[in-house]
Amino acid sequence: MFEADSVWEYSMADRLKFGPGAVAELPEEIRALGGESVLLVTDEGVREAGILDSVVEAFPPGLEYDVFDEAESDPPAELFVRAGRYAEEVDPDVIVGLGGGSSIDVGKGASLLSAHGGDVLDYVAPPTGEGQPIPGPTTPYVAVPTTAGTGSESTSVAVVSLPEQKLKVGISDKHLFPDLALVDPSLTVSLPPGPTASSGMDALSHAIEGYTTRRFDAKERPDSPADRPDYGGRNVLSDTLCHEAIDLVADHLRRAVNNGSDLAARRNMSLGATMAALGFANAGLGATHALAYPVAGEHHTPHGLTIALLLPEVMRFNAPSAPERYAEIARLMGTDVSGLDRREAAEKAAVAVEELAADVGIPDGLAAVGVTEDELPRFAEDTMQLQRLLVGNPRRMTAEDAETIFRRAL
Ligand SMILES: [Fe+2]
Repeated sequence: MFEADSVWEYSMADRLKFGPGAVAELPEEIRALGGESVLLVTDEGVREAGILDSVVEAFPPGLEYDVFDEAESDPPAELFVRAGRYAEEVDPDVIVGLGGGSSIDVGKGASLLSAHGGDVLDYVAPPTGEGQPIPGPTTPYVAVPTTAGTGSESTSVAVVSLPEQKLKVGISDKHLFPDLALVDPSLTVSLPPGPTASSGMDALSHAIEGYTTRRFDAKERPDSPADRPDYGGRNVLSDTLCHEAIDLVADHLRRAVNNGSDLAARRNMSLGATMAALGFANAGLGATHALAYPVAGEHHTPHGLTIALLLPEVMRFNAPSAPERYAEIARLMGTDVSGLDRREAAEKAAVAVEELAADVGIPDGLAAVGVTEDELPRFAEDTMQLQRLLVGNPRRMTAEDAETIFRRAL
């Protein structure tokens, strides 16, 4: 599949620890990072679910902790700065991000800004930010997810919202990889069916986009830093991880949504989300994530839900450009593709994803979350600003194409 002379590299969190009950090892992991004191960055929901209490109750005497529990979905730039200032004030040895993708991203921000100061926009790519590289290691950081989806614990990206501009931007830098991604599927058991479904569909989109993203090398990267992709394109390792992740999510998301305490389903969803994240963090994403940003910026729809509403139509658009891969996705999703030609089989992938989304309670179109037809041309224009994501999409996409996809997904 890959030429023998292709050069690729792989980056990930310093360490990954995975398994039900793994959170019990958090105190010793904090100590191993030199920590006598820790700042937990989390959100109200994690506190209300009792997860925060159960984590700190297990801390041994002598391990001091503070809590910043103001993380929220679509965290705005000012929240990152606030978390950073708080971290500077309490000056912990180690920061732990505990929660969904937003808490983990805000924790990355606290770890960055407490070590290097400044504003989060200093590190956001131009034209929105200054695009400064992170000058060195950040405050030691452990990411502990309580959802199975975003995979932020395994990536070097933090997504920052700019509410006034209705924009979402990202900081991507190797120093944002956590020192430890500690993934304990038992922490996801209390997640209600709705967020389980939408975060699971996000994981599926990471696996599908990572599996189908274009392969490119450094010399064909755009000159403009704003358009340069955050990722290196797919390679044999990302392919293997994304392939397995599609299989895991296809087999276990329905079960995890229908019975949250099915620990085997939860474990396989956490594993699928982790593998998908390890894959896309290196391979890259595609147009689904580009189209989702303007919609979520305007309507504040949860990331996973926005993604789930767009993914099938983007797949339908992309399938002719990578028919073997989409045919394989259809097969992994449980569709019998025997007897179909390549193109017919590829088209079945989008159908299978639509069926999964419907089965886990995702509404059947963008209109259900308040999107109206008159917004679509502007969303399509805004999508074109996200070339760092579009550059990896297997099929070239114009603003007209994006508008057509939005219309079909309405
Ligand atoms: Fe995502």
